[in-house]
Amino acid sequence: MALALNRENYILHKVHSLTGIIPVGYYMVQHLALNTFSLGGREKFDGVINFFEGIPKHMLLTLEVFAIWIPLAFHAIYGLFIANRGQQNYFSTKYKWSQNLMYSSQRWSGIFIFFFLCYHVTTTTGRKYFNNDAELIKFDAWHELLTSQPVIVVVYALGVLTASYHLAYGIWNFCIRWGITISDSAQVRIQKFAAAAFVGLTLMGWLALFGFIKGDKTPVAAKEAPAVETQI
Ligand code: HEM
Ligand code: HEM
Repeated sequence: MALALNRENYILHKVHSLTGIIPVGYYMVQHLALNTFSLGGREKFDGVINFFEGIPKHMLLTLEVFAIWIPLAFHAIYGLFIANRGQQNYFSTKYKWSQNLMYSSQRWSGIFIFFFLCYHVTTTTGRKYFNNDAELIKFDAWHELLTSQPVIVVVYALGVLTASYHLAYGIWNFCIRWGITISDSAQVRIQKFAAAAFVGLTLMGWLALFGFIKGDKTPVAAKEAPAVETQI
């Protein structure tokens, strides 16, 4: 069966919806939670980075490609296609309902996240692999970046805000799309959950940024000198 690329496809739309929650949504929650380790200082945050760097290279790369990059690239590219085809239902129309505003905002947030992630992933993971240097994504590098360039703080604060909104509204929409919330009371409950998720995720990301900006005054632990073999 040939896929008509000029109109949305039912299966691709379902896969798009699913990838937004698993694995991309799951990854983002874990990612923002681990980033808050910056509040504990250099040793705690670098411990997280060292944990992932300790995974054998081929396993880490396989995990990244299949659990993050492919699902994220599919969601992002098909998402841009949906956003481009979507009918305008708030701006420039007379239907100023909050539901329409939230729906439109999710599409606009997707477009913003696309550019944010192009910048973010190439300057973190991309740069790390290119230079074969994990120091570039550790605590001191973040402190230096965020304290020397205030505009980057704004970019990250907005990236976190829009991604948190996109995921939170997405959870609500996902539950309706997949028939998980059918009754009115279930829809009210998921709406409250989504609102709490939006605030919680945004706070986690902003607190992580605050942790890097605050910095860590403790001196960098001296690297252990290699043992010198003495011959008798
Ligand atoms: C507080 C803001 C953020 C900080 C400090 C941060 C930090 C980092 C770091 C250190 C890496 C490199 C990980 C590695 O290569 O081992 C990374 C990669 C990444 N980040 Fe973020 N991030 C932030 C926000 C976000 C947001 C909002 C998203 C949206 C989903 C996101 C998605 C990603 C993705 C997809 C990667 C590539 C992961 C990989 O290939 O291993 N980040 N981030
Ligand atoms: C990278 C750029 C991204 C673009 C262009 C994008 C685009 C979109 C669009 C247009 C929708 C609405 C689909 C519809 O109305 O049917 C959507 C839904 C969704 N997105 Fe994204 N998105 C992106 C990144 C993300 C990220 C990083 C996450 C997770 C943190 C995510 C999670 C979701 C979820 C959960 C949904 C709801 C699925 C549903 O309605 O069933 N998206 N995305």
